[in-house]
Amino acid sequence: MSETIKPHGGALINRLVAGEKRQQLLDAAPTLRKITINTWTISDLDLIAIGAFSPLTGFLEEPDYNSVVERMRLADGTVWSIPITLPIEEAVFEQLKIGEQVALTGEDGVVYAILDVRSVYKVDQRREAVQVFKTDDQEHPGVQKLFSRSPFYLGGPVQVLNRPKPAKFEAYYFDPAETRKRFVQNGWKTVVGFQTRNPVHRAHEYIQKTALEIVDALFLNPLVGETKSDDISADVRMKSYLVLLENYYPKQRTFLGVFPAAMRYAGPREAIFHAMVRKNYGCTHFIVGRDHAGVGDYYGTYEAQEIFKNFKPEELGITPLFFEHSFFCTKCGNMATSKTCPHDKNHHMHLSGTKVRGMLREGICPPAEFTRPEVAKILIEGMSEGVAGGVQG
Ligand code: ADX
Repeated sequence: MSETIKPHGGALINRLVAGEKRQQLLDAAPTLRKITINTWTISDLDLIAIGAFSPLTGFLEEPDYNSVVERMRLADGTVWSIPITLPIEEAVFEQLKIGEQVALTGEDGVVYAILDVRSVYKVDQRREAVQVFKTDDQEHPGVQKLFSRSPFYLGGPVQVLNRPKPAKFEAYYFDPAETRKRFVQNGWKTVVGFQTRNPVHRAHEYIQKTALEIVDALFLNPLVGETKSDDISADVRMKSYLVLLENYYPKQRTFLGVFPAAMRYAGPREAIFHAMVRKNYGCTHFIVGRDHAGVGDYYGTYEAQEIFKNFKPEELGITPLFFEHSFFCTKCGNMATSKTCPHDKNHHMHLSGTKVRGMLREGICPPAEFTRPEVAKILIEGMSEGVAGGVQG
């Protein structure tokens, strides 16, 4: 298979174990210490297994962790901005021995993986919060999540035996090996990845299509793992993406596949992470707009773009495409940014997320210049059904 772009670190990681080897490990699992993992960790584990988090082969060991937290690189210098860690209880931490194997087991009793214990360490969560999220304010959803977890971490490579089953939209789950193959089969040399945790509004559509003018294809890759409770559920979003693609996007140049990861809300650092992961899925370009992966007022509007300056293009591999805040201008009569529109701000349509959610809850369609009516209809139906949670489990 010819490659469009090299995975991060040079090779696509595959930590899935199959056949006889898998059976042997499953048979041995009951003799191993059991470590119970939650759905967040299962999601991280699965993304490691399929190479979405290449070059990671497991949960971060202490030297890599410290290096990622301090300088956004693994210990060997490879760019990596978000610590992918496995918290464990203090009692387990005290008993674990380097070199032993443990069975990572879900709350459902399924043995998901065998981990080789290479590193057990206690971290300073406040330092991690300040470095990764730029704040230790517990109102920040990422910080809150971090502090809700144990500060004792377990690191080491994994062999994955079972995978979580998507509850819905299974047809849109593709492993990086699969998306890479499809991109090549479609003859796409350049593919732009788009991360989103929201329905696609006109601003998203505008920046995606502007990018589509210069690359071969769009990989619409919505995050469908854990998000904060007031984000629109992945289930409703998926319905909205499907109706939008059906009506407004060129089928031969658009590919929808989900990103089953948890949202960290780490703004700038998460933008780097999102870009590296999309490179692993085979994207050559990645869109970073206004306040990418941000929340509240924790990050500056373009901080998630500025952070890219810390790295050389060859260290990143994927090309970021930066977009300014986009809006509909009533005078221009189309979508624009301050780079393309000469008119005064009061001609620009601005609606906050909170305002839009309020309108949808009351069954009011936001203006067509903000959200396509087909999308608004699905969002209103979703709100009235009160659907919550992610696509996965
Ligand atoms: S995110 O947390 O997944 O980044 P969201 O789904 O809102 O949130 O954004 C998806 C992408 O579109 C991000 O790159 C974001 O920066 C960009 N974006 C969102 N709204 C706008 C806008 N009005 N103008 C420019 N870029 C935007």
